[in-house]
Amino acid sequence: MSRICSFSDNANRKLTRMKNKRRVLVTGGCGFIGANFVRLLHSRYSDWRVVNLDKLTYAGNLKNLEGISEGSEYRFVRGDICDKNLISRLFAEECFDTVVHFAAESHVDRSITGPGTFVRTNIEGTFTLLEAARKSGFAGNAEEGAPPCFLHVSTDEVYGSLGQTGYFTENTAYDPRSPYSASKASSDHLARAYFHTYGLPVRITNCSNNYGPFQFPEKLIPLVFNNALNNKALPVYGDGKNVRDWLYVLDHCEAIVEVLEKGQDGQCYNIGGNNEKQNIEVVTLICDLLDKKLGLAESGQPRRSLIDFVPDRLGHDRRYAIDATKIREQLGWEPRVNFAEGMERTVEWYLANQPWVIDIVNGSYQKYYAEMYRL
Ligand code: NAD
Ligand code: DAU
Repeated sequence: MSRICSFSDNANRKLTRMKNKRRVLVTGGCGFIGANFVRLLHSRYSDWRVVNLDKLTYAGNLKNLEGISEGSEYRFVRGDICDKNLISRLFAEECFDTVVHFAAESHVDRSITGPGTFVRTNIEGTFTLLEAARKSGFAGNAEEGAPPCFLHVSTDEVYGSLGQTGYFTENTAYDPRSPYSASKASSDHLARAYFHTYGLPVRITNCSNNYGPFQFPEKLIPLVFNNALNNKALPVYGDGKNVRDWLYVLDHCEAIVEVLEKGQDGQCYNIGGNNEKQNIEVVTLICDLLDKKLGLAESGQPRRSLIDFVPDRLGHDRRYAIDATKIREQLGWEPRVNFAEGMERTVEWYLANQPWVIDIVNGSYQKYYAEMYRL
């Protein structure tokens, strides 16, 4: 099969190219889901070459990938997905046949106070990657048995908000309602357009709320865990009855691998935990787990006493619920970790990794790579 990429004449690179079964660009691999995904690939697919491109925004943390060293199977590149020259150079150098695109601004509350970076990273960044993939002819790089794939990782939030009944299917009309979900919806449309117009082998996944190790403590579960551990108020927006469909992060990562290996170009796959919970149920579960493991709060009260109902998020989507029939029936994927087990594992992980959380809360995790990259 002819290759269009222009490798440098570096002998080691040529060797790597022949040896590695897939050559994968992962964007945002230092974030929550990206880091879990890179770790999964590293442990399971030792013959794949993974290049992790991450800007190391506030949400990116090199410590999430401690223990994975650079070599023929792994390379870290600090950079911005909006940087056209860098991206084109990487496609030329690395001869990718696979892209798994996680990099994004991901927190809804931040999109409400500062939507500009969401438009830039999520829309312009995705466009830059799609253009580079198209112009590099990356689909021609694939070896037999490893079909080329540009996998765009998206969210269930593009579908909008549900009432008390019903589920999001892959045919549900898009109805994004926050700057975050609008920017993700735009990027999904671009990705789909590149399949239809240019034949780029795009696949899209739309997943529900993830939880698990390495989640940045601005999101509900790690934030509540950390506050409950430190006897601080637990902010619950509105009446606490908004519903999310929670999925353990490794189940999401495994679903992505299934889509890479068995999915079809031009298709979207919903991924969900079939695990709807009201926010207040999630918060009380964390309180109870910590009471059981550590005893009552400093006040001598159960940690539920720290719950504080605060004003609602603007435009707060009421309910998300995924119908994951398609990925189950077509690709054989199902979540393996139920919520009780996943929360137990998550709480244990945060308890065992307190220095990781403390570094983030006091800002020193940024110094770690600021020194390394002279930021
Ligand atoms: P995250 O915020 O934890 O990580 C985002 C990563 O992207 C960080 O490492 C950050 O440094 C990097 N990044 C941000 N802007 C960048 C840029 N311009 N160039 C290069 N790198 C950049 O996010 P996450 O929760 O891991 O989510 C990853 C992806 O999965 C996102 O696309 C998100 O929309 C999607 N998703 C998340 C969830 C969830 O529950 N967290 C659910 C469904 C889909
Ligand atoms: O559904 C998938 C989405 O899930 C992803 O696309 C997003 O990237 C991810 O951040 C997540 O979005 P949510 O807004 O659902 O997650 P978050 O953890 O911010 O909030 C979960 C719910 O908890 C939501 O209803 C808001 C509520 N909440 C959140 C925070 C941070 C609170 O009640 N209090 C809080 O302090």
